[in-house]
Amino acid sequence: MKKLTLGFMAMALVIGISGIAMANGLGAGITGSPHDFSAELWNTRTGELCRVCHVPHDHNRTLAIQTGIETNGLLWNHKLSDVSYTLYASPTLNGAIAQPTGTAKMCLGCHDGTVALGAMDSKAVAPSTTTVIQDVDAGYQTPSAAMGVSLQGTHPISVTYDPTLDAGLKATTETIGTSGTIASLLDGGKVQCSTCHDVHDSVGEAVANTHLLRQSNTATASGLCLACHIK
Ligand code: HEC
Ligand code: HEC
Ligand code: HEC
Ligand code: HEC
Repeated sequence: MKKLTLGFMAMALVIGISGIAMANGLGAGITGSPHDFSAELWNTRTGELCRVCHVPHDHNRTLAIQTGIETNGLLWNHKLSDVSYTLYASPTLNGAIAQPTGTAKMCLGCHDGTVALGAMDSKAVAPSTTTVIQDVDAGYQTPSAAMGVSLQGTHPISVTYDPTLDAGLKATTETIGTSGTIASLLDGGKVQCSTCHDVHDSVGEAVANTHLLRQSNTATASGLCLACHIK
């Protein structure tokens, strides 16, 4: 009985560990990464990697069209969130902050937990499930269920990166990992989710086993934070 329990625990551990490694990304491209949905039941275009997020032609993309996002291009194909968030605020914040824009809006369309993962273009069959991110893993809901529609507990997003307003910020010519300069990773001059994360887990850009981060935050202690902040 004891042997059986230990065996079971060892198995659970192995499954647990491989699950974590997979969830964090391999830094080897999108296939097999957390954003490889090609085999998910909720993916109404099973077998396709990119379709959940991008569509080659405008197939009635009404779901993905919302003021301020269509101009972003990127052939966006996933329904966006309608949530109006309580914004990050602090007495020392210098950069302008407003409702999420640009690529952050794209991430939040899945990650804020209000939109079904399978809600995408009209050439897809109707979403077969109502699976939302918290059904996959509650820990990936951003903002978390506890924070609800408030972004006050998450690093400022859609905030202007301006070293002339905040002398504690590095010059935008500095780089983040091997992804490029800070300037090239801003979107509309702002820090977005994709400034820190590489959604595609691209080879050479995302660091393996680090939540798809563009720079490890542990290889050099808080290396990602120090890529932007002079502290
Ligand atoms: C189509 C929906 C969708 C979009 C759009 C999306 N994600 Fe995800 N993301 C998910 C799901 C679902 C998971 C969990 C996958 C799993 O573990 O099975 C996930 C996982 C992640 C993880 C991995 C967490 C970990 O601990 O390894 C990160 C980080 C992440 N997403 C960030 C982003 C960012 C940043 C964007 C935008 C640039 C984005 N996502 C856009 C659905 C999405
Ligand atoms: C989970 C959603 C998601 C999936 C799946 C996804 N992308 Fe993206 N993609 C994004 C987001 C969000 C952006 C904008 C942020 C950025 O550039 O990192 C983007 C940007 C891009 C860009 C423009 C910027 C760049 O990196 O060159 C290209 C090209 C692109 N994706 C191609 C693809 C292809 C090809 C696939 C499939 C093999 C794919 N994407 C799968 C979410 C996704
Ligand atoms: C300033 C950089 C930065 C920005 C901007 C950022 N993240 Fe993260 N994110 C991180 C770091 C660092 C971690 C790892 C946290 C840890 O190890 O506890 C992380 C972790 C995550 C995770 C894994 C679960 C968790 O909470 O630890 C998800 C999912 C995620 N981010 C999604 C997002 C989304 C969606 C956005 C935009 C709304 C975003 N991130 C914006 C730095 C950032
Ligand atoms: C891509 C660059 C970038 C990265 C990486 C980054 N930050 Fe930031 N961070 C900013 C910007 C820009 C602001 C807004 C600064 C301002 O205008 O006051 C900010 C604001 C903050 C604030 C709020 C400051 C205030 O006055 O309210 C804290 C705290 C913070 N960052 C901590 C971190 C930590 C911790 C990390 C690593 C997990 C990190 N940052 C990673 C760019 C970055």
